Amino acid sequence: MGRNKVIKCICHKRSFEEIKSYASKHDLSLVDELQNRDYCSNSCGLCAPYVEVTLETGQTEFSPGEPFRKKRDK
Ligand code: FES
Repeated sequence: MGRNKVIKCICHKRSFEEIKSYASKHDLSLVDELQNRDYCSNSCGLCAPYVEVTLETGQTEFSPGEPFRKKRDK
């Protein structure tokens, strides 16, 4: 064990890396756009804040809760 990273949308079985490539290929910059296409983030929605940061910064690995802390620290 040891690795405790958040790296994917579990519901859609898609890694943030994959989501990043898809978004750039289709010129998408909003989580909404991915949700509307039923690509990710529209089932439980827990990954949405992570995907938001992926789209903003390109980051694809997070410690649990990291996007929430980032928002708070802004
Ligand atoms: S983990 Fe992405 S919608 Fe549930």
